[in-house]
Amino acid sequence: MGSIEAIGIDAITFSVPRSYLDLGDLAVARGVAADKYRLGLGVSQMAIAAADEDPVALAAGAGSRLLAASGRDPSEIGFCAVGTETAVDHSKPVSSYVHGLLGLPSRCRVFETKHACFGATAALLSATEWIASGAARGRAALIIASDIARYEIGSPGEPTQGAGAVAMLVSERPRLLELEVGRTGSFARDVHDFWRPLHRKDALVDGKFSVECYLDALGHAYRDWQEQAAGGEPLVRTCYHVPYGKMAHKAHRVRSSVDGLDEAAADRDFELTVAPSLRFASQVGNIYAGSLYLALASLLHAEAAALEGRRIGLFSYGSGCAAEFFAGRVAAGAAAMVARLDLGAPLAPGARARLTIPAYEALRRDDASADRRASEVSSERPFAFLGVDPAERRRYMSGILRDG
Ligand code: HMG
Repeated sequence: MGSIEAIGIDAITFSVPRSYLDLGDLAVARGVAADKYRLGLGVSQMAIAAADEDPVALAAGAGSRLLAASGRDPSEIGFCAVGTETAVDHSKPVSSYVHGLLGLPSRCRVFETKHACFGATAALLSATEWIASGAARGRAALIIASDIARYEIGSPGEPTQGAGAVAMLVSERPRLLELEVGRTGSFARDVHDFWRPLHRKDALVDGKFSVECYLDALGHAYRDWQEQAAGGEPLVRTCYHVPYGKMAHKAHRVRSSVDGLDEAAADRDFELTVAPSLRFASQVGNIYAGSLYLALASLLHAEAAALEGRRIGLFSYGSGCAAEFFAGRVAAGAAAMVARLDLGAPLAPGARARLTIPAYEALRRDDASADRRASEVSSERPFAFLGVDPAERRRYMSGILRDG
């Protein structure tokens, strides 16, 4: 085994459903002041998945885009893990479908991870340790976070939905972010802040308590990280798990108070060090396991050139709960890689359609029967869920992207 070089995120891409709901339209429909959603929660649009856009289709779409845009061949992958809390089966993992749809090699460790929004972080950190151990033998890991965030129509959680998948390539000599492997601050506690019983698609949540749990976990994980990674350069930016934009704002106040800053100073710092990571989330909403990594993609899209060589922090929170704070250094040349990945493409003007409220509500009502029949498939979608066959096997349409 040769010596291992820097390890981290070599490439990142994401996929979102083809439709979104404007939160201004939702505010009117629910009789709520538009500013409550826009300023109170910090959300403006949320992606809404149709029946053919299940977690497998979203994950395969993001993974295919990643391989095409990064110039990696599937044969280079030796580890494929999908973090999701929107499982499609008690046994067969989303990662198995992705492995097949993307044509990954049979010599590959393939599994699904679950811990609410923390699942993909568990997978990402495992992948870095797999590479650090020498087991990768030069191969790369494909980590995908894929989820559909859903709360009951008319509930306080409704404006904090979303859907999407983020795919990351983890390797030696990463072209985007070198991670500080083995130096993370962690925290866990058995709480019922948010849960998704097996018979339900909509999540149940003790909303205000979930906010308290998130902030408490952040304080503990951050202090633990400070002990593990004491010294070193300051963090010039921080990406938080983003269930809605305002949560990142609250998080930054708590984290700043640990550093001895008052609220006014924390709020000034927020505009510079956190706000650029929230732009994609404001158009997509909460994507659960992928939310932290969508924030990272947003930050790199906005500022990669200015951040090359600089140290940034990442905070992952999963209800239930588990949290981890960790850090990395933006790689030299990251801006060129970001340009190649064309990170903003899935949200470009014209790339998505705005749903009317009746169309959104019809999509949700359609759920009960959607899994049972073949759906109408848009020919522009590279991957789509087609329904289940008589033996209850899930069927997919596959069309791997050949170029970015
Ligand atoms: P709510 O009932 O809308 O709360 O629920 P609210 O009435 O307190 O209003 C929210 C904010 O809007 C408040 O500001 C109001 O003052 C403000 P804050 O006190 O928070 O600073 N407001 C206005 N602002 C401007 N103009 C107005 C106006 N009116 C009110 N006119 C809640 C909010 C987030 C609880 C709800 O949406 C919810 O339950 N969401 C789902 C749970 C959630 O996202 N929790 C976040 C932490 S847990 C987590 O992140 C994990 C998770 O991702 C799941 C996983 O791990 O898998 C959820």
